[in-house]
Amino acid sequence: MSGFGRVARMGMAAAISAAGVLAAGAALADAEQGSIARGGKLYDKWYAVVKAEPPSEAHPLYPASNEKYAKDAAANWRCKECHGWDGLGAAGAYKSGSHATGIKGIEGMAGGDPAAIVTLLKGDHGYADKLAEQDLIDLANFVAFGQIDWSLYIDAEAKKSKGDPVAGKQVYETVCIGCHGADGKLPKEMPPLGSLSGNPWEVMHKVLNGQPNEAMPALRAIDHQVTANVVAYLATLPAE
Ligand code: HEC
Ligand code: HEC
Repeated sequence: MSGFGRVARMGMAAAISAAGVLAAGAALADAEQGSIARGGKLYDKWYAVVKAEPPSEAHPLYPASNEKYAKDAAANWRCKECHGWDGLGAAGAYKSGSHATGIKGIEGMAGGDPAAIVTLLKGDHGYADKLAEQDLIDLANFVAFGQIDWSLYIDAEAKKSKGDPVAGKQVYETVCIGCHGADGKLPKEMPPLGSLSGNPWEVMHKVLNGQPNEAMPALRAIDHQVTANVVAYLATLPAE
């Protein structure tokens, strides 16, 4: 089968299943993919995206019960630190372990009104004086239109992508290889890509949205199955 036919068919299947899973299937096409991807990078590490210093005081909503991160303002102001890479908060990968806080996820706002999310982020969340209006809109678009049904792409129990590593290799060796090298050990200051496979949600988030403050592309505008395939291939690369 030709690669083109294969990708086209997967694209259709994913579009149909996404519409069935997400409440706002029709609205999915409304927001710009670039805005959603930028929102995803802000969700990851907003201060790197806007080239600001991280706050020095802990986030007021962060619970003292997590002693590891309660005093670490650079960590606990990141959206992902309270709501998880999977956006599922205490119901997802952060339900236990060193990042656990008990805070709920953001999945309840998938398909929600972006303006209401902007208002929420300017309130108790404390981002009004830290982020510009466009940053807040991009974050809101990510929350409202950028969340995915992880169960389609990741086996949570096994912590593994459900994608096809053979198909993923073709994408890696055309799109990623120039910056990351054939074995995933570039750039030098980064851990090898093959060593990150214990957290497929984080890796998939970064491949979908890009790396904050880096020239790395975001694959969000194409079928997420392609991203899942790349993530499956990364897990086969050398871990050291
Ligand atoms: C220090 C922890 C913390 C950080 C950082 C944080 N949040 Fe929250 N967030 C919360 C808490 C606590 C709630 C309220 C949960 C509740 O109602 O029980 C919440 C609620 C939300 C909700 C509403 C969820 C719902 O279904 O009601 C959204 C959306 C949200 N946050 C988005 C974000 C975004 C986007 C960022 C980053 C810009 C962010 N949050 C950063 C703690 C945090
Ligand atoms: C234009 C160069 C460029 C391209 C193309 C690129 N990346 Fe990246 N990527 C980077 C840089 C730079 C970083 C951050 C390096 C650092 O943190 O030191 C990064 C970081 C990452 C990370 C996060 C690593 C971590 O430490 O958490 C992942 C995962 C990743 N890239 C995967 C990919 C995949 C998969 C592709 C192809 C779909 C890709 N990248 C394409 C430049 C690129």
